[in-house]
Amino acid sequence: MSIPCDMLVFGGTGDLALHKLLPALYHLHRVGRLHADMRILALARSQHSRAAYQALAERRCRAQVARADFDNDTWQSFAARLDYFAMDASQGADFGRLGKHLGAAGERVRVYYLATAPDLFEEIASHLQIAGLAGPHARIVLEKPIGHSLPSAQAINAAIGAVFDESRVFRIDHYLGKETVQNLMALRFANALFEPVWRAGHIDHVQISVCETLGVENRGAYYDNAGAMRDMIQNHLLQLLCLVAMEAPVRFDAEAVRNEKVKVLEALKAISGLDVRDKTVRGQYSAGKIGGQEVPAYYFEKNVDNDSDTETFVALQVEIENWRWAGVPFYLRTGKRLARKTSEILIQFKPVPHQLFGDGEANRLLIRLQPEERISLQLMAKHPGKGMHLQPVELDLNLAQAFRQKRRWDAYERLLLDVIEGDSTLFMRRDEVEAAWNWIDPIIQGWQQHHQSPRPYPAGSSGPEQANLLLELAGRKWME
Ligand code: BG6
Repeated sequence: MSIPCDMLVFGGTGDLALHKLLPALYHLHRVGRLHADMRILALARSQHSRAAYQALAERRCRAQVARADFDNDTWQSFAARLDYFAMDASQGADFGRLGKHLGAAGERVRVYYLATAPDLFEEIASHLQIAGLAGPHARIVLEKPIGHSLPSAQAINAAIGAVFDESRVFRIDHYLGKETVQNLMALRFANALFEPVWRAGHIDHVQISVCETLGVENRGAYYDNAGAMRDMIQNHLLQLLCLVAMEAPVRFDAEAVRNEKVKVLEALKAISGLDVRDKTVRGQYSAGKIGGQEVPAYYFEKNVDNDSDTETFVALQVEIENWRWAGVPFYLRTGKRLARKTSEILIQFKPVPHQLFGDGEANRLLIRLQPEERISLQLMAKHPGKGMHLQPVELDLNLAQAFRQKRRWDAYERLLLDVIEGDSTLFMRRDEVEAAWNWIDPIIQGWQQHHQSPRPYPAGSSGPEQANLLLELAGRKWME
């Protein structure tokens, strides 16, 4: 089923639009998932003709889309949907011009994708309303970060909520669109096997790591004001934590799923006072080598302050105060310019209560989200030969191989289609975003109060040594 729709992308010349959104729309077009009448309109301040914008988009899409999936005919038919309109989103009059350019919406769904800085969100929503462009079939998509603190997120949510009711607001967290992240729900809620042991009593601890080799690229100006806590922990890592820790929703729909996630966020134990020092680690990369290449220290990156104390790495020990998880630490870690790019969740089970065969290792379940999608369960097995010598073996499910014939959808393809179809199950609800900031803010304030500067770590390493100590003091280790 496809739906007649106009998709308008504010920030149409930005990296997100050109690198992620247009390639995702191209793929959806290629596989016939967009309505024949659907139009895509990129909006930004610079003056481009339609043809010049299409040429720019083609260059970026070609670089992004696998060669086998890109052909000229398909591109031409996609480009026929693609238009550009130069406007200044801070100028009300420009929205009047936009309305004229678009013509009457009628029953068409109109999606406004705000791929802009969050300080423009409120203004854009209000201009859309004044220009009569926020009718009942209009939807708005907000990219993270929604604000930079609880009060600023509340202000944005209130301003957006004054124009669009909650069912028409799509707060995107692209991690929720990743196949393996959705597989985490399938693993937990479509298999009876794990549920009885998915709790305190059987699980020793959980680790969630999102490690990147990239630095801040061209995003220094944004990143230096955000840091890893706001850029990654507040959204992606907390969302992963919610999916690991939530109770089974009664239905797989937007309200039921999000109700359960909010309960987890509300049960996070506050980290404040001295706990900030003991349970959190901040780091910032210094010069080093990634894949044999020298890379500069963070404070020498473009548009970053030379004496910046923004963190590019965070590790946290988190507790969830509810019956299922009391006493089970969740260790969260994310950083830029680390040794390798990987996103993984490790569920470390407790050892057997009585060791029959000498020291055995406890079971662990590893869910790898990227680079490859893999779920593997480590079990103990007998080594062949005489004597009961045990050794860990992996029960390995390689999802790319299991579904070999299927091209893996990019997160944005899935999420853009959900917006067009009006399904907000994989988007963050207002109270979810605010509950996350409510827990994050005291940690950031604690860092400021205790002057907790980021610890340097060389680019290409696994982060500052203090992050290892966080686990070692409890007799644990990060998975490597
Ligand atoms: C974005 C962050 O939301 O996620 C980036 O702003 C980060 O800083 C990116 O690099 C990571 O996403 P992925 O899909 O590459 O893991």
